[in-house]
Amino acid sequence: MEISEDMWEEVTEGSTTFSIYKDANRIYDASVFYNPKMVLNRDLTLLSLSSIIKREMKRICFLDPFAGTGIRSYRIINELPQDSVEKVVAGDINPIAVNIITRNSNNLKFDEKMEIKHSNAINILDSLPKKKDTTHIIDLDPFGSPIEYIEESLRALRINEGYLFATATDLQVLCGKFPESCIRIYNAIPTRHFLCHEVALRILIYNIIISAGRLGLAVEPILCYNHEHFLRVKVKVKDSKEVANQQHKKLGFVYFCKKCSFLETVELSKDLVDTSCTNCSEKLEKAGPLWLGNLYEVEFIKQMKKDIGQFTLHLEKKIEKVLSLILDEIESPPFFYYIPFILRFCKKEGISLNQIIDSLRSKGFLVSRTIFDPQGLKTDASYDEIVNVIKQY
Ligand SMILES: C[S@@+](CC[C@H](N)C(=O)[O-])C[C@H]1O[C@@H](n2cnc3c(N)ncnc32)[C@H](O)[C@@H]1O
Ligand SMILES: [Zn+2]
Repeated sequence: MEISEDMWEEVTEGSTTFSIYKDANRIYDASVFYNPKMVLNRDLTLLSLSSIIKREMKRICFLDPFAGTGIRSYRIINELPQDSVEKVVAGDINPIAVNIITRNSNNLKFDEKMEIKHSNAINILDSLPKKKDTTHIIDLDPFGSPIEYIEESLRALRINEGYLFATATDLQVLCGKFPESCIRIYNAIPTRHFLCHEVALRILIYNIIISAGRLGLAVEPILCYNHEHFLRVKVKVKDSKEVANQQHKKLGFVYFCKKCSFLETVELSKDLVDTSCTNCSEKLEKAGPLWLGNLYEVEFIKQMKKDIGQFTLHLEKKIEKVLSLILDEIESPPFFYYIPFILRFCKKEGISLNQIIDSLRSKGFLVSRTIFDPQGLKTDASYDEIVNVIKQY
């Protein structure tokens, strides 16, 4: 396809200016996809890499096999300290994307660090040399689900015990609009109710853990979150069957009441028999199998927060808020209580989330807000204990 010169448009993201080919008004109609709304995703990617580099003192080799315009790759080369990036490989199946990446990389200050591939991601992943220090981080950012690329990525990351980053935008499937598709693709039951995003994220992690386990690998979540229309998972690969065996003990189900917000998690091997809510007798909804362990690694997130000032981030305040919220909920158990439902169950009004948090804290419980819902509360207190606190008001 002929690329007309007057269709090029300059865009700046972070401190990187690059050109996109703007041949449509709607981003979804353009011949190459560039979504400015994903800036938070890319900002957090830079901070994550900064945290990895600082903590492991290494020069990184990064693979971006669904590069699109290549913006993620340029920002890594431009905005991370020059001596910390060895190589960035940007690939895409779309020849126009490859054209855009080639044009932009010619304008990069350190263009020798960039390698461009015009290929199907599966071929790129398949042909990666399984040698030391060739690929440390693979970032999967396809349209929809990354699931079909997970196993090949894990194989490639084994030798360096590297990091797998993946974005999923198939929330209609993972958040339960099409439950049959979720069962077919992810082998798990989703939910459409208030826990849907946390369930979706944990189903995705469960699938990565299962793929890793088959290869004798474990993966440790370091930063997994949901924001607007996407899920983002970042895990460290560990070449250890023992760690993998331990990790499989943290797979299970969540049962919850969509009327009063009672919830219970169970391991895979101890699935519940009685599935009625002990509070209100409503039939409990079941979701999973899914990951019941941590979504974050404390020191990794702390380092990210420290490094914020080193970058030009358009959403700096928002990123600070998200990382603070994560640090607040980092020790909390999986899943949250949806407070409006508990207040309704208690026939109470006008009690704020902060009041409930303070009261539970004063009784010695672990309590936090959650990134998944501004009305959600994570705690190790039982449902009855939360009800007792609310009834005191
Ligand atoms: C969501 S966009 C990538 C956006 C980009 N990573 C960013 O941050 O702006 C997905 C890209 O994957 C490419 N793609 C789709 N299927 C592919 C495949 N099988 N192999 C390689 N690239 C593929 C598309 O051409 C598109 O550019
Ligand atoms: Zn109930």
